[in-house]
Amino acid sequence: MLAAMDLGDPVDLDWNATAPLLPAARSAWLDAYDRAGGNPASIHGRGQAARELLDASRARIAGHLGCRAHEVVLTSGGSEANATAIAHALSEGGPAAALAVEHSSILRACRARVDSVELPVDGDGLADPDMVADRIPPGCRLVCVQLANNESGVIQPVAAILAAVRARYPDIHAHVDASQGAGKLAWAFKDLGADTLAVAGHKLGAPKGIGVLMVRAGCRLRPLIHGGRQQQDRRSGTEDPALAAALAAALDHHAAHREAEAARQRDLLAGAFATIRAGAPDAVWLGAGAPRLANTLLLARPGFDAEILVQRLDLAGYAVSRGAACMAGRGEASHVVRAMGIPPELARSALRVSIGVGTTAADLAGFAAAYLAITASAGR
Ligand SMILES: Cc1ncc(COP(=O)(O)O)c(C=O)c1O
Repeated sequence: MLAAMDLGDPVDLDWNATAPLLPAARSAWLDAYDRAGGNPASIHGRGQAARELLDASRARIAGHLGCRAHEVVLTSGGSEANATAIAHALSEGGPAAALAVEHSSILRACRARVDSVELPVDGDGLADPDMVADRIPPGCRLVCVQLANNESGVIQPVAAILAAVRARYPDIHAHVDASQGAGKLAWAFKDLGADTLAVAGHKLGAPKGIGVLMVRAGCRLRPLIHGGRQQQDRRSGTEDPALAAALAAALDHHAAHREAEAARQRDLLAGAFATIRAGAPDAVWLGAGAPRLANTLLLARPGFDAEILVQRLDLAGYAVSRGAACMAGRGEASHVVRAMGIPPELARSALRVSIGVGTTAADLAGFAAAYLAITASAGR
């Protein structure tokens, strides 16, 4: 029995739920509070110091994400950015279309609209640009496409999908949820063909409580939050220069380390999966046929119950998840694996293993051994 073998800190293999705060983001955050704790809307010197830091951080964020500084609207996170874009695009009604594997902050908002459609993906979780364009209903106001999936890590061909959609519906509002793709992947907002795009800071090592809604110049965003007209009246509420500085620092970190880290993480997960396959030839890597984030392994083994595996792995010192963190405890296969058409016996066993800059080879060797031991002793 592996339970509670090691009573040290659990090994965090759930970075897609939230990534630990990067040291560079932490020090930028604290330093900014000390240097520029004023309200950037105040006209006195303390306010202006905060404004200067905010503007400089906004420009750095824009530089990293391939847009202009005034296209960056700071939000509280990915959900708020998604909600703002959807409310804007659907403010005059009309159906919406979203990939069936989108995050619940997209799907639940779109499902609230009559005639909205969910767009299919293939067995690897990948959407086909022409099929997406074919399935969009007439009169559709909004199409939502995610950059990378939070459970499978599958990366969608966003630019190709949006080009196919725009060829038929030039005026449709195109929104991209890049909550899992920012920092981990190199891309530029200006190249995707999107009107709006969401980023979640805590998924890339910035603090919780900061995100970005990128808004294409020329798109007159209707605000979701009204008040003091901050951010050109696109999102009211006092801006926090310290959070913006932390996000900029986290993006600096990814720009410097992205490629080496991706190669390292890809190797770590491939090694862990090879070990698991050697001991359990029926183990499956879901979404393996599609381009994927280097840090994500969606691991399944027919007949096992993922809920039980998560609990037993936790006792053994490994934090993994079953679907999105916000869907945990539901006792059913996630909408993502269901949309991929995974048979129920396999779908209910799917575990998400997601890693990051702090993950070591020893962490994954330990995880692979624990997974094999637990599945050898657990009933199917
Ligand atoms: C793909 C995706 N979109 C949106 C969100 C929501 O982001 P936040 O937690 O910052 O609201 C998440 C978080 O789980 C996500 O994975």
